[in-house]
Amino acid sequence: MERTFLAIKPDGVQRGLVGEIIRRFETKGFTLVGLKFLKPSQELAEQHYAVHRQRPFFAGLVEFITSGPVVAMVWEGDGVIAAARKMIGATNPLTAEPGTIRGDLGINIGRNIIHGSDAPETAKSEIGLWFKEEELVNWQPHL
Ligand code: CMP
Repeated sequence: MERTFLAIKPDGVQRGLVGEIIRRFETKGFTLVGLKFLKPSQELAEQHYAVHRQRPFFAGLVEFITSGPVVAMVWEGDGVIAAARKMIGATNPLTAEPGTIRGDLGINIGRNIIHGSDAPETAKSEIGLWFKEEELVNWQPHL
């Protein structure tokens, strides 16, 4: 079964959006298989955003993501990687479609509430970066 990594960023936590965001993925029908609440270390943040290392916003991005607690999650379901990206919306909340998390809840590209893996390879590496295998729960809801 496909899995993706999602993280509610410090702005989402501070604005009290954790319940709203988890509700969207639960009611959509995806299965939560990993969940932790942590203040990411500098090292974890730099590894997570390594692909953006050369970008001008990299230092600010790392500073922001380490500034407070985040909700790190692994969600499971058929097509969950692409579906979650659709539910999250475009990177810039100002242009993200209404109905998406960023489109409904944000206005600032540097404070865009939530991160979601963009492809199967990144999902695999991000899940491995944030979670140990034994922290993930193998279970199926009885629908
Ligand atoms: P995310 O999906 O977590 O992946 C990379 C992050 O970089 C992105 O969300 C934004 O929060 C951030 N980002 C992308 N472009 C910019 C930008 N122009 N200025 C500041 N932050 C950016």
